[in-house]
Amino acid sequence: MLSQSREAPAIIEAKGLTRTFGGRRSRVEAVRGVDLKVHAGEIVGFLGPNGAGKTTTLKMLCTLLEPTGGSARVCGCELRRDPVGVRRAIGYVSQAGSTANEARAGEEIISHARLYGIDRVTATARARKLLQDLDLPDVWERTCGSLSGGQRRRLDIVMGLIHQPKARVSGRALHRIGPSKPCQFVDSYPKIARRDGYDNISYHPLHG
Ligand SMILES: Nc1ncnc2c1ncn2[C@@H]1O[C@H](COP(=O)(O)OP(=O)(O)O)[C@@H](O)[C@H]1O
Ligand SMILES: [Mg+2]
Repeated sequence: MLSQSREAPAIIEAKGLTRTFGGRRSRVEAVRGVDLKVHAGEIVGFLGPNGAGKTTTLKMLCTLLEPTGGSARVCGCELRRDPVGVRRAIGYVSQAGSTANEARAGEEIISHARLYGIDRVTATARARKLLQDLDLPDVWERTCGSLSGGQRRRLDIVMGLIHQPKARVSGRALHRIGPSKPCQFVDSYPKIARRDGYDNISYHPLHG
């Protein structure tokens, strides 16, 4: 773990976070008591072999899966008591993608922003800026299905940032960005994050 700032408040604090699946016969202990403290501005490597429980942990921290044990606070919100607060505070960029093939990119972002109660004018201004940041200036009228894999992935990232979350959570941060882009994005992510004031939480498998 590379620590950048221990003074800052913890954006993730997990104690004994646990998740088991299945019943008595087919019980899988996917996550067995994870203790984790991540401060704002800190760079954390969350690594493990295939099946170690990374995705399950991230899903719990994003409120997509209920823990079967332990507790966690994300951006100051208690995971079990205030899951809606956690959802408001984070921007989740799923590794599976979150856009519909037939939807036009601009409208897809605006619809997503409206779900967070953001008005159309504000959402449009933010979306145009983020699309510029992510090197997607001309996709507004394009259907999501017509974008390349890397472009679509970057569109997912715009969707995850449109409500200006405190923390951006991303599975496989650079997955499908494209061979020429990862270095560029490793540079530009922290810059956008500093400007818009959020923290990046991401994990990436080192296998395969
Ligand atoms: N919905 C599920 N039902 C049963 N077992 C699951 C489920 N999701 C994950 N697991 C199991 O939990 C373990 C951890 O999986 P996962 O969190 O996806 O690992 P990682 O992301 O580190 O590769 C694996 O053994 C996996 O098969
Ligand atoms: Mg995984």
